[in-house]
Amino acid sequence: MKRYSRITGTGSFLPPRRVTNAEMAADLVARGHETSDQWIVERTGIRARHFADVGVNASDLAERAARQAMEAAGAKPQDIDLIIVATSTPDMVFPSTACILQNKLGIAGCPAFDVQAVCSGFVYALTVADSLIKTGTASKALVIGSEIFSRILDFNDRTTSVLFGDGAGAVVLEASDTPGILATDLHADGKHVGILCVPGSVSGGKVLGEPLLRMDGQAVFKLAIGVLEDAARATLAKAEKTEADIDWLIPHQANIRIMQGTAKKLKLSMDKLIVTVDQHGNTSAASIPLALDTAVRSGKIKKGDTLMLEGVGGGFTWGAVLLDF
Ligand code: ACO
Repeated sequence: MKRYSRITGTGSFLPPRRVTNAEMAADLVARGHETSDQWIVERTGIRARHFADVGVNASDLAERAARQAMEAAGAKPQDIDLIIVATSTPDMVFPSTACILQNKLGIAGCPAFDVQAVCSGFVYALTVADSLIKTGTASKALVIGSEIFSRILDFNDRTTSVLFGDGAGAVVLEASDTPGILATDLHADGKHVGILCVPGSVSGGKVLGEPLLRMDGQAVFKLAIGVLEDAARATLAKAEKTEADIDWLIPHQANIRIMQGTAKKLKLSMDKLIVTVDQHGNTSAASIPLALDTAVRSGKIKKGDTLMLEGVGGGFTWGAVLLDF
């Protein structure tokens, strides 16, 4: 019998501190930079984001989201035989946030590793987990996106600091006789490293370069819309489906204009678009599973719906996963 993978539970966690555009604007103005709630809402669709307190790490957010996903799936930590965490803001240089999380969950032995593909991280991680389940290496995986982007923001840069937030989203992905995941499509093009990066590193006990997010927003914007359309079409073709089969589009939650532009190119009505960017900001690898869990818990997404998940981010990386929920 053919082996597939299927999402059996979702979870998410937002740190309690909610920061509105008004607060972000007041802080930027106090630092001598002009901005306003109106500018942020009009250009990005973002109204608020959550920031983690000092001392809270990506593994802490991941643990809360993972426990919720396991509860929804009726799974216990001991049932999990693979942990993948997508993050660009790990707790430490090493070991991986996945290993730190594994210890917090009290399970030892199963493989655990991080995936670093910035905002495409969750789509990359889900694809890797799907492959490991299909080959029989794993049967019940925890796939998580967890980020604390507030640690790498330059709060003197109005062009980036207002865009990002912290949070985590998780799914339990299980072996199944029926799909589940219908098709996946991943890409990267390293020549675009410079348009979105955190150009810092550690060496000899010092931080070299600037460990703060730098972005050419317009270049990212243009690339994002094109590759998101291509990835969606390639994934549909692999699954022998069409746009009409998509019940919900869950793109990376970076900017409402990019998301609406993608839906339009795919000729999808705006009510098929899951939007959480207004309340979460861009939470990088966490944005897709956070949006998925929010829509599942609100009753929008139901069992059997066909979902198109799409990621795009630094690298440049991009990809899509089409699945029956
Ligand atoms: N408040 C007020 N003015 C601002 C702000 C702000 N917060 N930020 C920028 N501006 C100014 C600019 O300085 C510029 O002023 P100028 O004309 O005097 O030079 C003006 O507003 C217009 O700037 P643009 O960059 O043209 O504005 P745009 O409409 O392109 O919006 C934005 C900028 C929101 C960054 C947009 O380009 C965007 O969303 N890009 C994609 C970002 C993205 O998706 N990033 C995440 C990728 S995922 C990952 O891997 C992390």
